[in-house]
Amino acid sequence: MGPAAQAIPASSAPALPQHIAIIMDGNGRWADTRKVTRMRGHSQGSEVLRTLLDSCRARPFIRYLTLYAFSLENWNRPADEVEDLMNLLRHYLRREAATLHENNIRMQFIGELETLAPDIQRDLESVRTLTQNNTGLTVSMAISYGSRQEMATAMKRICKKIEAGALVPDAITADVISAHLHTANTPDPDLLIRTGGDERLSNFLLWQSAYTEFYFTEKLWPDFTPADLDAAIECYSQRERRFGKRKEA
Ligand code: FPP
Repeated sequence: MGPAAQAIPASSAPALPQHIAIIMDGNGRWADTRKVTRMRGHSQGSEVLRTLLDSCRARPFIRYLTLYAFSLENWNRPADEVEDLMNLLRHYLRREAATLHENNIRMQFIGELETLAPDIQRDLESVRTLTQNNTGLTVSMAISYGSRQEMATAMKRICKKIEAGALVPDAITADVISAHLHTANTPDPDLLIRTGGDERLSNFLLWQSAYTEFYFTEKLWPDFTPADLDAAIECYSQRERRFGKRKEA
């Protein structure tokens, strides 16, 4: 058994997921079917996000939630939609910061954050510092995030340490790479939910989801309810996670 395998937990029935990641997809189609603007769909999506945070707090076995809010590829959408999404983010952060803090939620932001407008970067940093000592649910919001770019950034960080003599190539293990990703200090997701019917990762948490259980639902994100969250958790609890080992007797 190689050293990386020692970090992998024993094969077991998973019980309940402590880390859930969500690809919140389907806002546009939700809007189209109602003949309203895509912005209305995203705005409804942000309301569902508030409900989701309450649902997670009411299920305290969930310790971590990682949300795909805006991908690096989303920058290629029409400029007005990108602007609408950025304004929604500004509005959400300013409106929700105090509530997130009161609810003991620790907010983290992952992605190529330097690509965001300076005022948004400041808002993210102020929400992060406001909530950094909270002990409840940890929410990682992926914004301007791409998993391949995250890995490239990690490689650059590692190479710089080698250049500086702080690390030798032979010391690079899977754990060292994990520790240089934006998600360092957060365990890998147990369960990844994608709404909207597509069954792919779309450049989200590629490294971190090596042994994650996937749950795909046709439900569009603005229609996602606490009962849908429970259905995903129930499905997860029926799975057997073997982490490459043999089924236990
Ligand atoms: C995908 O739906 C969703 C997004 C690109 C944005 C996700 C944002 C939210 C759920 C709102 C909360 C986020 C913030 C910024 C506070 P889509 O537009 O790709 O839907 P479609 O596949 O039906 O077109």
